Amino acid sequence: MNGEQVFRHVPVLLEETLTALNLQPRGTYLDGTVGGGGHSEGICRALDGNCTLFALDRDRDALKAAARRLAPWQGLTLVHGNFHEAHRLLPGIAFDGILLDLGVSSWQLDTPGRGFSYHEDAPLDMRMDQSAGRTAADWLNTTPEREIARALYDYADERWAARIARVIVEMRSERLFESTQDLVRAVDRAIPKAVRRRDEGHPARRTFQAVRIAVNDEIAPLACALESLLSMLKPGGRLCVISFHSIEDRVVKRAFAGFKNPCICPADAPVCVCGRKPLAVLPKGYPTAPGREEMEANPRARSARLRVAQRI
Ligand SMILES: C[S@@+](CC[C@H](N)C(=O)[O-])C[C@H]1O[C@@H](n2cnc3c(N)ncnc32)[C@H](O)[C@@H]1O
Repeated sequence: MNGEQVFRHVPVLLEETLTALNLQPRGTYLDGTVGGGGHSEGICRALDGNCTLFALDRDRDALKAAARRLAPWQGLTLVHGNFHEAHRLLPGIAFDGILLDLGVSSWQLDTPGRGFSYHEDAPLDMRMDQSAGRTAADWLNTTPEREIARALYDYADERWAARIARVIVEMRSERLFESTQDLVRAVDRAIPKAVRRRDEGHPARRTFQAVRIAVNDEIAPLACALESLLSMLKPGGRLCVISFHSIEDRVVKRAFAGFKNPCICPADAPVCVCGRKPLAVLPKGYPTAPGREEMEANPRARSARLRVAQRI
């Protein structure tokens, strides 16, 4: 990371998350999305450093920022990797609490060189882990039209998905996509000016969200990852997940409902024969959303939801 670039990201639902984690002195915690370390620092402060904290991120620049912020605290291990693979990265550790603050950080969005922002002209990268996987440019230049349309629809509810996908394929046959502004131009060509609604913000917002989610494979493996993370908790340990859009939140909600009631017997079956037992309880008071004050102070918090599952 450029040394002059300060990592700016205000942790969302901080107090609510610390309460939800039910922090215990000498507890062992996993922050699966450490980012700039805002929530992790909150955990260390709340326990006065009297804990073991594993902090993971797939973005090496985020880890560097977290290392600086968390340097004063003992008992911290930073790990580069995907929380989908926490089981493999941190084998045999039983956690008292695990936190996921999903999506990208404000710092990632605001750093032009990362290619997440439609406001800047930058290489179309969008990978959280710049050491692996396809860039957004590669994805847009090689993915079949139908798959692009499906991603735009599924990951951002983009009603112009089919038209945008068609324009992307037309444009790439003339010149391959390279920069964020190539994608902005594609959206601009695809969405008729007359139908753009002011309240929907920048016309490319949804497309950028969908491409980012596709490039980083944020949705498909999430349900499995949640189940795996739940299994890494001690009995009574809590899995706390903050999501930022309805697609993500739906996956978390369904997964948690499945932990509470995993029975797959037909609804009209007189008794359960599948034998599946509840894996978690869902503590009262969740999901919770930020209060008015937080939303006013941090517009990014507006769509946040915190859900909690407690392992049985
Ligand atoms: C919303 S930010 C977290 C901010 C952090 N809670 C803070 O207060 O500074 C999300 C972070 O999670 C990381 N991330 C997203 N998906 C991930 C995944 N599957 N595995 C590991 N890290 C991930 C991103 O790189 C980003 O740094």
